[in-house]
Amino acid sequence: MKLKIRKIEQSDIQFVYDCENKYFHNFTTVEKIENDLIDPLITYYILESKEKIGYINLWIDEEKAQINSLVIVEEFRNKGFGFSFLKMIFNILAEMNVSEITLEVRPSNFAALSLYEKVGFKQVALRRHYYNNGEDAYLMYKRLGRD
Ligand SMILES: CC(C)(COP(=O)(O)OP(=O)(O)OC[C@H]1O[C@@H](n2cnc3c(N)ncnc32)[C@H](O)[C@@H]1OP(=O)(O)O)[C@@H](O)C(=O)NCCC(=O)NCCS
Repeated sequence: MKLKIRKIEQSDIQFVYDCENKYFHNFTTVEKIENDLIDPLITYYILESKEKIGYINLWIDEEKAQINSLVIVEEFRNKGFGFSFLKMIFNILAEMNVSEITLEVRPSNFAALSLYEKVGFKQVALRRHYYNNGEDAYLMYKRLGRD
């Protein structure tokens, strides 16, 4: 399957909105995502083949980046797409001279935690009661260029 990665377009907003609500129960709004699209610090990339496979939402500020969300559509999970997607994103970020990436993840999100560890993230801190439901978050960190 040939994978393509590209920046988000207006026509992807509904896809992102549907995924955010389905997989994160975020109750985000279309307006919020539209605002993200004009925020110079926020970038979304879409992973697709014949259809959309997933997306990533990144905050990028000079040499630092943060993964705000990463989604692989349910039917495409456990096939290595999340892993390949992150590797492609690391290459893009390295070309932009980004040298460190952070993210927060729920300790209960075993799939995400395992994926992030597999691509070289390390747990560096625990953020207590980080999420709306009171759940803690692991802060994870990766330097680009060395695993
Ligand atoms: C987390 C997520 C992006 C993983 O994507 P994916 O394409 O299924 O992951 P991959 O197939 O590339 O898996 C890569 C590695 O991640 C880990 N992993 C992925 N899914 C896993 C699962 N269900 N259980 C345990 N480990 C898992 C494994 O280490 C796997 O490597 P392996 O296949 O050699 O064992 C996907 O499950 C998802 O979209 N979840 C909902 C949204 C979410 O929670 N996003 C992350 C927080 S922002």
